Amino acid sequence: MRIPLIAGNWKMHKTVSEAVEFVSEFRKLYKDTDIRACICAPFVQLPALSEMLKDTDIKLGAQNLHFAEKGAFTGEISADMLREIGVDYCIIGHSERREYFAETDESVNLKLKRCFEAEITPILCVGENESERDAGKAFEKVGLQLSLDLSGIPSEDVSSMVIAYEPIWAIGTGKNATPEQAEEMCGFIRCVIEGLYDEFVADEIIIQYGGSVKPDNAEEILNMPNIDGALVGGASLEPANFMKIIDF
Ligand code: PGA
Repeated sequence: MRIPLIAGNWKMHKTVSEAVEFVSEFRKLYKDTDIRACICAPFVQLPALSEMLKDTDIKLGAQNLHFAEKGAFTGEISADMLREIGVDYCIIGHSERREYFAETDESVNLKLKRCFEAEITPILCVGENESERDAGKAFEKVGLQLSLDLSGIPSEDVSSMVIAYEPIWAIGTGKNATPEQAEEMCGFIRCVIEGLYDEFVADEIIIQYGGSVKPDNAEEILNMPNIDGALVGGASLEPANFMKIIDF
């Protein structure tokens, strides 16, 4: 039985006081559902949010980490630092990091391995851009990302992780993939996982859709059989909107 995960990706939004205000409000609105909720916040907000969420079912996530255990990497944050303050999840390989911060499949692979060592559940983002979709190469692109990003990672780790299918053309554009397009790719991802591992792993892994998910399109997307939740950017920044998606 896969427990769906709805994770808010706040990206570079909110100061610490704004984040605290969000969580105070969100805790009042939050109802326990069959869905797992998670907030992936900027680093500086994590200690305060961890304290506020520790007696709730709401999970806490980061948006990046460094692949080394520790060392001379000025300005970076390690997985152990995050784990110690109660971070459960970490987004890895978001398309914005791949595009603006030179994240490669190789660094994504190392970061995934570091997450498993630190017992942080990674949310691995994959997805094609608009020209790849238009050229009929979306499946090829996602298949390649999966095989490179997961290289050398054992099945017991992969079965406990999360993959987010995020078509780049749908992120922050208001133009979501249709439920059918999202389902088709999430089903394909499950098949690729079965090919790389086995049926058990493919059955266990959580596969989210992300890209312009909002309260008014969440239900039709999240009711699809191969879609186990969503990675939500813009619509996770306001407590009532985010709760509407979780309570779809
Ligand atoms: P969006 O972002 O919901 O604002 O499109 C999703 C994401 O980038 O994770």
